[in-house]
Amino acid sequence: MLSVPPEPWRFPDVSESKEEQALGEIAGVDLSGPYHSLRVARVIDETRDARSIVLEIPDPLRDLFAYRAGQFLTFRFEVAGEKLVRCYSLASCPASESEHKVTIKRIADGRVSNWIHEALAAGHYVEVMRPAGLFTLRNRDRAVVLFGGGSGITPCISILKTALATTDRKVRLLYANRDEESVIFRDELRNLEERYPERLSVVHRYDVVHGFADEAAVREHVGADLDADFYVCGPAGFMDVVERTLLASGVSREHVFIERFGSPAGAKKPEVEVRSTTPGAGESRIEIVLGGKTHEIPWLAGETVLAAAKRAGLEPPFACEEGYCGCCMAKLVEGAVDLQSNDCLDRSQLAEGWILTCQGVPREGRVRVRYPD
Ligand SMILES: Cc1cc2nc3c(=O)[nH]c(=O)nc-3n(C[C@H](O)[C@H](O)[C@H](O)COP(=O)(O)OP(=O)(O)OC[C@H]3O[C@@H](n4cnc5c(N)ncnc54)[C@H](O)[C@@H]3O)c2cc1C
Ligand code: FES
Repeated sequence: MLSVPPEPWRFPDVSESKEEQALGEIAGVDLSGPYHSLRVARVIDETRDARSIVLEIPDPLRDLFAYRAGQFLTFRFEVAGEKLVRCYSLASCPASESEHKVTIKRIADGRVSNWIHEALAAGHYVEVMRPAGLFTLRNRDRAVVLFGGGSGITPCISILKTALATTDRKVRLLYANRDEESVIFRDELRNLEERYPERLSVVHRYDVVHGFADEAAVREHVGADLDADFYVCGPAGFMDVVERTLLASGVSREHVFIERFGSPAGAKKPEVEVRSTTPGAGESRIEIVLGGKTHEIPWLAGETVLAAAKRAGLEPPFACEEGYCGCCMAKLVEGAVDLQSNDCLDRSQLAEGWILTCQGVPREGRVRVRYPD
C-alpha cells in the first residue's frame, strides 16, 4: 500500500518562477545544484583492483562536506559521453583525517569503476554531492563489531577508525577477501592493531584458504557480545549469512546496520502499487527534462517518477531505489509529488523543490521534473 508521509514530504505546487530563483552563493562557490566540482588531489593504487581517490574540499565547501563515519558520496561522471551516477563510501576518518578519501574496486564490465581505474587522475575535477547515508557510528557504550567483505571495508574502516579515535569502545573486524593480495588497507589495519592492541582485533578470512564466511565464523566473531553494535557491508551472500546469524543468535535488529552497495545495473525493480495497468485507463502524462531534452511520458497512477521514466525507456540516474543515496535527485518544476520515504534530502533541499524520483509519486494533474544538467 502507498502511504502518504507527513509534512514536510508533501510538496506544495511549485512554479517555474520558483525554480528560477537564485539559490545562493558562498564566496564564489555555486551552491545552486546538488553537485559540486571537486579536484582530485591524488589517486592511490591500494591493490591490483582497488584505487582510492583523495578529494580536495575548498574552504567554502568544508561545512557542506562535513560527514559522519560510514557515510558516502554520490558522484556523477561522464564516461564515453554518458553521465553516470555512482555512490562511494568514505574510507577516511572524519575525526582524525583532514582529507576525504573514497576507494573504488574495479568490477568486471563495470563502466564507472573501470573508467576510474583507467582514466581518472590527480588534477581532474569530479562532480560530487555532499555526504549522505545512515550507516553511521552510533553513540553507545558497547563494543563495535564489524563485518566487511571486499570493497565493503570502506565504510567499515571509517567507522573503525572513528570509534578508536573518539571513544573507548572495543572494536572487532571480521574482514573477508578472496585472498591475501585482495586485502584493501592491510597495512593501515595492521598499524592500527599495533597502536590499539587492547581495543582492536582484526580477523582476516580468505575465500581460497578458509572458504566463504559461514554461521560458525560469524558466531565466533560475535562471541558473548550480543549487545554490541554490528555493522555489515560486503557482497550479498556475505551480508545475508551475517545478518541471518546475528538475528538467530538473539541480536536485536535495531543494533544491526547494513550497507548495500547497489548499482543501477544490478538494481531491483521498485515495488510500486500501480492503481491501473489497463492502457488508457488512469493513465496521464508527466514531463521529464533529462540531459537537456524534454520528454512527455505516460504515467500510471501510483507510479514513481523514476518508474515512469524507466518504463518509457529513458535512462535516468538511480542506485539504491530506497530513498537514501540521492542519486536520483531531480527538481520539481511544476505540479505536486508525494515522497514515499526520504532518508536523504534535508529541509532546505525540499524547500528548493528537490525530490527523490525513486520515491516521488506525482499527485493528479500536471507534473514537470528536471534532472540536474
Ligand atoms: C551507498 C553505496 C556505497 C558504495 N560504496 C562503494 C565503495 O566504497 N567502493 C566501491 O567499489 N563501490 C561502492 N559502491 C558501488 C558503486 O556505487 C558501483 O555500483 C560500482 O562501482 C559498480 O559501478 P560500475 O559503473 O563500475 O558498474 P556497472 O556498469 O553499474 O555494472 C556492471 C556490472 O557489474 C555488476 N555489478 C555492479 N556493482 C557490483 C558490485 N558491487 N559487485 C558485483 N557486481 C556488481 C552489475 O550487476 C553489472 O552486471 C557503493 C554503492 C552504494 C549504493
Ligand atoms: S535511487 Fe537512491 S534515493 Fe533514489
